Order: sequence, then C-alpha cells, then structure tokens
Amino acid sequence: MSKPRLVLTRRLPAQVETELAERFELLTNAPDGLLSSADIIERVRAHRADALLVTLTERLDGDFFAALPDHLRVICTYSVGTNHLDIDAARAKGVALAFTPEAVTEATADVALLLLLAACRRAHEFQAILRQGRWGAWNAWDNLGWDPGGQVLGLVGMGRIGQAVARRARAFGMHIHYFQRNRLDEAQEQGAVYHASLESLFRASRFVSLHTPTTPQTKGFINAESLSWLPPGAIFINTARGDQVNDDALVAALRNGNLAAAGLDVFAGEPDFDRRYLDIPNAYLLPHIGTSTEQTRIRMGRDAAANLCAFFENRSMPWPI
Ligand code: DGY
Repeated sequence: MSKPRLVLTRRLPAQVETELAERFELLTNAPDGLLSSADIIERVRAHRADALLVTLTERLDGDFFAALPDHLRVICTYSVGTNHLDIDAARAKGVALAFTPEAVTEATADVALLLLLAACRRAHEFQAILRQGRWGAWNAWDNLGWDPGGQVLGLVGMGRIGQAVARRARAFGMHIHYFQRNRLDEAQEQGAVYHASLESLFRASRFVSLHTPTTPQTKGFINAESLSWLPPGAIFINTARGDQVNDDALVAALRNGNLAAAGLDVFAGEPDFDRRYLDIPNAYLLPHIGTSTEQTRIRMGRDAAANLCAFFENRSMPWPI
C-alpha cells in the first residue's frame, strides 16, 4: 500500500523527520523558512498531500481552509496551542485536526518554575551585577528576593500543565489555589483551593501563573483591572500565550511597583515583543522556550506521528482537537 503524503511546514528534529519518513511520503521545508498560507497551499497541491504537519508559526485562517485542496484530509499541529488554527473553518471544510498536548506538559511546567524562581530571587538583576563587575563584599541586606515557600500560587487554568506546575510548586512549600470554569475532582485537585472567579483567585495569590489557551474570553484578560486585584508585591508568570496580557497594564504594574516581578516566556506578536520589558530589571524574559528540550521536541514529533498514523489507519487519533 502506498504511504500517505505529508507536507511539513517547518524542519523538525532529524530523528522525527527520519521516523516520519518511514511512514509517510514526506515533503519537508529544507531551508526552514517561514511559509505563507499561499506557499503552504502550493506545496500541498504540488505534493498532492493527504496530511499537513504545522507549527505555531503558521496561521491557518478561514481563507486558508477555503483555498485548501480537497485531497488534504488531516492537519496536526506540533504544539498544545491551537490559537493559530481556525478550528471552525477546518470543521466546515471537513479537515480533521490534532495536536500534541501531552508531550509538552513537563517541559513547559519546568519553565514556569524556572521563571517563578528566577523572578522571586531576582536572577536577572543579580546576574547583571556580577556580569557588570559590580559585585561587592557579601552583606546581609543586598540582593534580597522573596521565598516562594509558604506563599499562595494562583494557577489560572488547571489542565495538564497547571497540574504539573502545582506538583512542582508543592515541593517548594507553596499553597496551590486555582481558577478555571470547571472545578476538578478531588483526586486531581490534590488539596488545591478552587476559586470560582479570576478576581477571587488574584486577591488570594502572591504568585500567579497563566495556563490558559487563548480564546475570546482570555485574550487580553490580564489587564489593568485584573492586575489591580493582586496584592502589592505579587509576581506574575506567563508560559501560555502573550496575547492574553495587555502589555501597557503589565509594564505599568512592574514600573510602579505594584508587581514585584514578572517571568515571561511568551509575548504578543512574537518574535517581536514590547521592547519596554527590556528596561524593566524585575522582568525575567525568555524567548518562548517552554518546550525546548531535545526529549520534548522528539516526543512532540512522535505524538504528531501517532495522530496521523491513527487517522490513516481509521483509528481514533489519540489527541484530536
Ligand atoms: C505549544 O506547544 O503550544 C508551545 O507553546 C510551543 O511548543
């Protein structure tokens, strides 16, 4: 039987591409340049592709799905985030969608903790002191941060990643509170305190960490009003998506000291981002590295392959959207 024909929009780790090539007739994007919708459609057509594997750098909107040839039957995104996909348009076109949510969980939770610890121990500010040769004799009052232990960590979203962050934060002695639409059952809560509103969670939390998908409800929902619900000296962490945050409000809260610090791995408009963050010493910034480990990127590829293989073998995909 001939192999299904698959277009990759970006280069993936060599091992992933080798494994995919065993099961699919591949068209790769050798130079790894960013492709426009028109470029992707052109490749799908030229390769007579049955399947497409995309990443968060491709925006597949209504026009894309309208122009997509009918032989393309399934699209998997190499991500947990799905905000780059017009899901309704895919459904209307009859294209199946899948993603890789499980693979990303632990690595993303690690980065949330990295940011949380870096923000509360002011790692960026103090590394700058060392690098700039301003390190003086030890004393008892300089370079002070704040203990995470004993503090409330408010998790906005308590899905796979939120729960993985909670597991790690408990090891640091933090008390876990969370807000999302639906309360978890007791076994999943592991003692975490549920809040029925964002306001209630923010008023109770010294640290907050976002683990929500971008939806019309969450777009820009971290704004001047919601940040004002946090106690003075709070710390804000974002490993979810940058477009959930109003940058004017976050920059203002960091500058006026209402927030003690922030840890950000994601930004609106990446790889562009609001350059004002660069001048804020208590902002610890990373270039969207939540899933950037060798093991995680390989597992994401294998999970994508598992989705696509299941689709072509008429089995349920393990991670459909
Ligand atoms: C995801 O999976 O959505 C991450 O943000 C990128 O890998």
